[in-house]
Amino acid sequence: MQKLFVDLKKDVDDSYEIHIGRGFISEKIDELNQKSKFFVIDSNVYNLYPFFQNLQNVYVFEASEKSKTIESVEKILVFLKNNGCLRDSILLAVGGGIVGDVAGFAASIYMRGIDYYQIPTTLLSMVDSSVGGKTGVNLYETKNLIGTFYQPKAVFIDMDFLNTLSDEEYKNGLAEVIKYALMFDEKFYSLLDENSKEIEDRQEILESVVYRCCEIKAKVVKEDEKEHGLRMFLNFGHTFGHAIEIDSNHTIKHGFAVATGMYLETLFGHYIKKVNDETALKVKNILNKYSFELKYSFLNEESFLRAIASDKKARQSGISVALTPKVGSGIILKGVGIDLIKEFFVSLRS
Ligand SMILES: NC(=O)c1ccc[n+]([C@@H]2O[C@H](COP(=O)([O-])OP(=O)(O)OC[C@H]3O[C@@H](n4cnc5c(N)ncnc54)[C@H](O)[C@@H]3O)[C@@H](O)[C@H]2O)c1
Repeated sequence: MQKLFVDLKKDVDDSYEIHIGRGFISEKIDELNQKSKFFVIDSNVYNLYPFFQNLQNVYVFEASEKSKTIESVEKILVFLKNNGCLRDSILLAVGGGIVGDVAGFAASIYMRGIDYYQIPTTLLSMVDSSVGGKTGVNLYETKNLIGTFYQPKAVFIDMDFLNTLSDEEYKNGLAEVIKYALMFDEKFYSLLDENSKEIEDRQEILESVVYRCCEIKAKVVKEDEKEHGLRMFLNFGHTFGHAIEIDSNHTIKHGFAVATGMYLETLFGHYIKKVNDETALKVKNILNKYSFELKYSFLNEESFLRAIASDKKARQSGISVALTPKVGSGIILKGVGIDLIKEFFVSLRS
């Protein structure tokens, strides 16, 4: 088993370990037997893995963006209270990003915060959402508007969970993997480029891919826990990507929207002369290699642009867009006006 360390020693020590391996999860959960344990488990994972059906204090959660709400958090809090969860109890979030975000948020506010552990079961949650302590829920159609920064006590990544993940959900996570390479690590880009077949087939190399993503995320979070600088690089593809999710009425999944978003943001960067031809081609190449759709036709241009303007990353001074002027390094453009973005989309059509 491999171990990483998320180093967050500031006013309080919020540091924790990420464990990455295979077939270790039941043992790991048993090892945590010093306190009373409560579980929030994704319903599909619960049904697929009989081990979870033998546990006590389990709240089975049907994960979807529609159920990622404050009402769901309230139900979890009531479940915790009714089953005797106390300050020194622990909560284990078992599932994809939705369970991790919702259960993590519940843990952060129950009795002003109880310890929790992330046990991610999708590729996206392994490489991204389980690390870094962002928790939260949607408020009506606005994604992740309510939330906290609340770090888990540890993250346990058991690669075996990926054996049951659908191809669509797997590919959803691959978009975030590509994002790390484009923003942070040119060598990692080459690895993804040269081993696309093995990675798509979920071969052994995948563990080192997950490890590298977590290593990058841990470093980013160490430097910028609350997203004032470096952590904003992780939003590459997300400013346009979130608007695609909303405009498509969530028929396009997050990762697929982010993939198209990364390409459109790169073209935007090219349009304003911050990204050169070579980089734009490299972005296109890697997304093509993993067969992501690069084009997007708005259902409603006005609402698409409104979604960009009202993105939660937007400030009064304008919109922030993460760009990669050179593969492996990023920049943040702040204060981008919606008129410039409108102009860019007009230019794309002509
Ligand atoms: N907190 C963060 O930093 C952060 C970062 C990125 C994304 N997110 C959030 O993560 C969410 C998306 O997460 P996701 O892509 O993991 O989606 P998800 O949690 O909806 O899971 C996707 C689907 O996979 C199923 N599933 C989960 N594990 C499985 C397994 N091992 N085998 C078979 N099926 C399984 C689930 O039941 C669900 O139907 C979004 O809400 C997004 O906002 C959060």
